[in-house]
Amino acid sequence: MPAVNDPTDLPWWRHAVVYQVYIRSFADSDGDGVGDMPGITSRLPYLRDLGVDALWITPFYTSPQRDHGYDVADYRDVDPLFGSLADADAMLARAHELGLKVIVDLVPNHTSDQHVWFQAAIASPPGSPERERYMFRDGAGPDGDEPPNNWPSVFGGAAWTRLTEPDGTPGQWYLHLFDSTQPDLNWRNPEVGDELVDILRFWLDRGVDGFRVDVAHGLFKAEGLPDTVLRDPDEDAPASMVEAAGVDEPMWDQPEVHEVYRRWHEVLAEYDDSEVGPRMAVAESWARTAEAIARYVRPDELHQSFNFHWLSAPWSAEAFADVVTETLASLAPVGAVPTWVLSNHDVVRHVTRYGGGAQGLARGRAATLAMLTLPGSAYLYQGEELGLAQVDVAPEDRTDPSWFRTKDTAKVDIGRDGCRVPIPWGGDAAPYGFGPAETGEQPWIPQPDDWAGLSVEAQTGAEGSTLEFYREALRLRRTFAETAGTDVEILPGAPDLLVLGRGDVVCVLNAGTTPAALPAEARELLLSSGDDPDGTLAPDTAAWFRRA
Ligand code: NOJ
Repeated sequence: MPAVNDPTDLPWWRHAVVYQVYIRSFADSDGDGVGDMPGITSRLPYLRDLGVDALWITPFYTSPQRDHGYDVADYRDVDPLFGSLADADAMLARAHELGLKVIVDLVPNHTSDQHVWFQAAIASPPGSPERERYMFRDGAGPDGDEPPNNWPSVFGGAAWTRLTEPDGTPGQWYLHLFDSTQPDLNWRNPEVGDELVDILRFWLDRGVDGFRVDVAHGLFKAEGLPDTVLRDPDEDAPASMVEAAGVDEPMWDQPEVHEVYRRWHEVLAEYDDSEVGPRMAVAESWARTAEAIARYVRPDELHQSFNFHWLSAPWSAEAFADVVTETLASLAPVGAVPTWVLSNHDVVRHVTRYGGGAQGLARGRAATLAMLTLPGSAYLYQGEELGLAQVDVAPEDRTDPSWFRTKDTAKVDIGRDGCRVPIPWGGDAAPYGFGPAETGEQPWIPQPDDWAGLSVEAQTGAEGSTLEFYREALRLRRTFAETAGTDVEILPGAPDLLVLGRGDVVCVLNAGTTPAALPAEARELLLSSGDDPDGTLAPDTAAWFRRA
């Protein structure tokens, strides 16, 4: 096991800042209103100058786009919407030239219903080897017209859809933990595991530096597919992925899944000596407890797992401190580094979660500074460096399958379109430099008409802008992130202050409502997320200091 505190010779991913590129909404090179691979390539210098170490690109493979790429029809090609394999190779080569690592998304839990395997399965009889690659079952009830069990889809409604057999009769049911166009694979069939390893190798051979593993906790389902005792399909859908993962259920986090990651670990390790350097994989595992998540990053499994606990914590110094303590305590026994994330393409942007407006933005910047203090990797979501808030997308512009499956029943709007609006690069009106379309022409999700001041162009060089704040924070982080080790001290401070000590840096965050006296350790100011402190730190602000 690597020594957790040994700062020498660390692989890049142990201290990287990773920028999530949601490809549809990052940069559009051809003016069709949808971001693409050449668009990413053209903006790589921006990412290098922002100061990130790596980018993670959401799925760009051949896909009918029913869940915007998380429904893969061909894992070994690029969807024409986004470009070609040659465009992907060019992007990778340019990223490497600029010193940026590239993580691609891997979707092993389910395929698209347009994948050749699923098409073959529905054309083949029950019990055939083609059907054995997916989770087909006979229905319950006297006529088989009830779903095989009571599992709900994460996107709302039942997790089962009934087939009409080729001869027109009602047939078997297939499992889909997400949309009905995303059938779950049968991981108890060895053919599935072999195929996924082959796909890993396909992208490793092309030179990718790592994988983000979609629904990493979902691959195996409990034997016998027992009913879940906690919800039934008639109940409202869970309000969020966090809630969906909040309880032990037979479809998540089954012990067999770890064998898969042991195998993948060996495959990735084979590439260690290549010119590209060490490869990695980060799990999206919404497992219930910190201990359960730690099992995915044991020394012979995946390298990182997203830690969504800060993201779901309330605005509270105590809650943040607890998340830090619990995260580090759970990972220490397995020697893994933590990850930190405030936003991604599945959740409401953090500026809005923290209340929106000037206060939400102030809190968002403060939380970012605190997060960037911590050891391990920080994952940023495109647009957060511009301080973007969640957009209220009109019902007619919605495209998210979870919106369609829940809009009539959900207690809470879980539609994710509002955090996926194409980002503004410059100009005064849509598409704000997102692509070469005519001024006024909207991209695939319309942009708000008050975004001119938030664009990269408007914020570059502007004193106090969120973009310049991120650039400075990332520049300073590079001076300590690699060498400061993985110890974090939670230091005493005034009530509502979070005081984090790491190496010779101290971060102070004021989550209270009144200015707070600075702790003794805060010597020389390095950077503030808001007004510079003078003796006291304003509410909703964080600052980095050289430690006394
Ligand atoms: C998690 C991804 O982040 C989300 O966008 C997707 O809808 C589901 N997995 C299903 O693949």
